[in-house]
Amino acid sequence: METVEPKKSKATVRKRAEEIKPFICKNLIAVIESPADIRNIGTVIRNVNALGVEKVYVVDPRKALPDDWQEMRERKSLARTSVSAVKWSFVKRFDSTDDCFDHLEKNNFHSVVTSPHVKGQENHWLHEANFTKHTKLAVWFGNEKRGISDCAVERSDACIAIPMFGMIESLNLGTSSGIVLYEVTRQRRDYQSRYRKGRRKGKRAELLPAVIAKQTD
Ligand SMILES: C[S@@+](CC[C@H](N)C(=O)[O-])C[C@H]1O[C@@H](n2cnc3c(N)ncnc32)[C@H](O)[C@@H]1O
Repeated sequence: METVEPKKSKATVRKRAEEIKPFICKNLIAVIESPADIRNIGTVIRNVNALGVEKVYVVDPRKALPDDWQEMRERKSLARTSVSAVKWSFVKRFDSTDDCFDHLEKNNFHSVVTSPHVKGQENHWLHEANFTKHTKLAVWFGNEKRGISDCAVERSDACIAIPMFGMIESLNLGTSSGIVLYEVTRQRRDYQSRYRKGRRKGKRAELLPAVIAKQTD
């Protein structure tokens, strides 16, 4: 059973929101394709929030989620399984994989899929891949049983795998999203700390911090 975090004052919440702002990886989206279990959706949203990914997209052909994020935030099942991360991390649903890709491509996002298997033309181990090549990046995770779809593989640049050393075929969705997004956000925060964006882009004279200093109790 998940422990509920103690209620924080508005001032504490506001202070934390300001503190984390520069560390959020803008233009980074985690996409979950046709997840079957609400607990996995909640876990991915929790990972996204904890690791500083900007948004979550869910391909939801079963229409398990409401269209509106405000309504999602009020869904008890999502609030419980994400330990309220759904309140803080923006979630958008799509009816199909193609709809989600159309939206991403219209907004100039590149996509990579994740799978324990070799998929498509370009395959990389997680620790060897470069996640800072594109300013706008979507990282896709597949269904619990079927994995990532052929359609998602075809419309993506590459497939990323976490090396496996056991007898089992794959990690579960929650665990694999945590591991992959940790590496992707680590690389992108490191990049953000060294390079400026936009019109003034180039190397910073002084490095920005890439982690938030730990709080003492
Ligand atoms: C339980 S796995 C799906 C297993 C499925 N039988 C398959 O063939 O992919 C759910 C999702 O977690 C991610 N995943 C699991 N293990 C992974 C690994 N070793 N490397 C990369 N992604 C992995 C992928 O996104 C996968 O679609």
